[in-house]
This record gives sequence, C-alpha cells and structure tokens, in this order.
Amino acid sequence: MQQRIKRHELKPGMFVVSHGQGTFASPVVQVERPLLTQAQIDECVPKDVDDVLIDTSLQIALPGQARPVGVLITTGLGEELPIAKRLYSDALVHVKSFVDDVRRGTDIDYRKATPLVESFIDSVFRNEAAAVTLFKLRGFDEYTYTHSINVSILAVLLGKHLGLDKPTLLKLGLAGMYHDVGKAKIPESILNKPGKLTGGEFQAMKAHPLEGYKIMQKQVDLDPEILRAVVEHHERHDGSGYPRGLMSEDIGRFSRIISVVDVYDALTSRRVYKDAMAPAKALGMMYQWRDKDFPPNAIENFIRCVGVFPVGSFVRLSGGEYGVVTSTSAKRPTRPEVKVILDADMRQQQPRVLDLEALKGTPQAQDIDEVLNPADYKIDLERFFNA
Ligand SMILES: [Fe+2]
Repeated sequence: MQQRIKRHELKPGMFVVSHGQGTFASPVVQVERPLLTQAQIDECVPKDVDDVLIDTSLQIALPGQARPVGVLITTGLGEELPIAKRLYSDALVHVKSFVDDVRRGTDIDYRKATPLVESFIDSVFRNEAAAVTLFKLRGFDEYTYTHSINVSILAVLLGKHLGLDKPTLLKLGLAGMYHDVGKAKIPESILNKPGKLTGGEFQAMKAHPLEGYKIMQKQVDLDPEILRAVVEHHERHDGSGYPRGLMSEDIGRFSRIISVVDVYDALTSRRVYKDAMAPAKALGMMYQWRDKDFPPNAIENFIRCVGVFPVGSFVRLSGGEYGVVTSTSAKRPTRPEVKVILDADMRQQQPRVLDLEALKGTPQAQDIDEVLNPADYKIDLERFFNA
C-alpha cells in the first residue's frame, strides 16, 4: 500500500517509491528501493524534500525496530523476489567495495555488512525461496563478489534449518560474507585462470584462509566464531583439508556449515573455465563425499534445507513438459512446485505452476524425470521466474 509521509518520518527499512511533487521546483525522483540505513536515506532523499511516497507492503523490519502494523511477515515468491533482488544489488556494491579496499591495502570494517545480513535473515524468514532463487541468476563474470553473497545467504538458510537463533545467524551470515576475504590478496590471474594451476599458483590459492585470518583478526569486536570460519572453511572432516588438516569436531560449527554451502555454490556456479553444474547433480556429488569431506548428516541436512530439486532447477516432467522449480519444502523434498514453461517439443508456452505434491494420486500426477542444465538449451531462467 502506498502512503505519503514527511521526510523526517522516514525510518531505515522503509521502501521509498519516490519523492518530489512533480513541479518544476520539485520534480518527481523515482527511488524504488528499501533504504536500510540512515546513511542510505540521507544519500537517496535530499534533506530539503518535504515528503516522500513509501510502499508499506514492501517495508523491511530491521532488528530492534517494531514491525509496523500491516506489514506482511510471510510473503509469496512474487512479492519477495523484487525485495531480495534489491538486497542482492546492495550486497554486490558492499562486497565490491571491501574487496577493492583490501586490494588497495585500505582497512575494512566488517560491521558495515550488519544491516545487509540482517536484511538477508529477514528475507529468508519471510520467504526462503526468494533468496535461494537469486543466487543462481547471476553472471559468472562477477563470481568473486557473488560467491561471498551466496555463501552468506545459504549459510543463513542452512543455519535457520539447524535451529540457530537470529543473533547467531547474523554472526554466521557475516562469516559467510567475509569467508573468502583473503582471496583479495591473490592475483586475479590465478583466481580466474582458465587452465590447471601450477604447483606454485595452487599454493598461493591455498594461502587465502590464512590471508583472510590476518585481515579479519585486526577487526574490532570480532566474534571468534567468525574468525574461525574464515581460517577453517577449507578444513575437511577427514583431515584432508587446509591450512591445518583439522579433523571432525576440531573444526568449528560455523566453519562446517560454511564448508558445505561454499562447495555447493562453487559447483553450481558458472566460471570462465567451467559450466555451472545442475543443483541436483551437485547435491548428488556432495552426498558421495559426505563422510569424507563433510561431517555426518551435514549433506542430508543441507538437502532437506534446499530440497532434492532446489529452487531454480530446470527439470523435465514425466508428462514430457519442461519447467523450473519455484518452491520446495522439507516435508516434500521430491515433489516441489514447478513452473512449466516449455512443451514436450521445447516450444515456449504460457507458463503455469504445478504443485507436484497436490497432484499426487490424481490423474494429473507427475514426477520429475530428469534435471537438465539450462545452459545446454540456451534457456534464460530468470525470464521465466518473472513471467
Ligand atoms: Fe575459500
């Protein structure tokens, strides 16, 4: 619902549609985004503006702030996706800025990411699918930045499924955001090298957890669990990881969560030197490594959390049509909601959503027959999410 309020009534978390009166002296300026901090309000809404147009249905409740009456606590994917998209864009700006600062040797302040991670947590609590959808829709050229955001969002999601409370999820999300900060010290020619790394290059790459540790340990008020996740996220359950070859319970709980989502995002992301792996295939591979690389039950928990066919999976149904998974639930991991977009001859059709669980036992019942890689079919899934 849109509402006009005075500028001084603006609070962090409000979704500002526009400001201005539509006159020569006060032209209308479209903002169309939630303003999460007072600094963002000051940046986007000039001080001499009298009033602003806000959309209360898109408002985000920030921690420590009463949730305004009338705000939807649980939103549908269609409503949450635009909010999550804006959050993702804000996060991208933030990650680029701290990576650039580290490369230049400028000090960073990890606490600046707090409002962002708090907003991720709110988004995941409103609608888990929106955040999960987003991270598969990003270009491969920005992997260095998107990976940090994806790991942060997925860690929050997995942490929520494991029953962590919101203050702990905030620390976990921050750990995800900064887990690879040490990579900013590694030359991009090594990070994005298309071919096999030489022995020396591989050693340089493996130094990033310790480089990250050196950067993060200078931070003021840093929780030790965050620091452990930065230095331990490449440790493996059987002791085969690096830098210290720690085993099982010697690896911190944040480090164990982040190691799972880190590998999942790396496998399912497209890079200059490889295609993205289909989410279900990546989960299958990780399941095979479950007692070697990851602690017992870690992969099972993650699969319960993202579903056997995670949101964003491109699938062929038993009826022959093709679609994209738009919603999934731990209670029915093999029967998600699928938006059908192509007929059996791969011709585009009017999209319609099938709830495979609801159809179970009816004449229209369908299963997922196969998970496909959309890149092989030159399909732009983002277009269909918004259709
Ligand atoms: Fe890493």
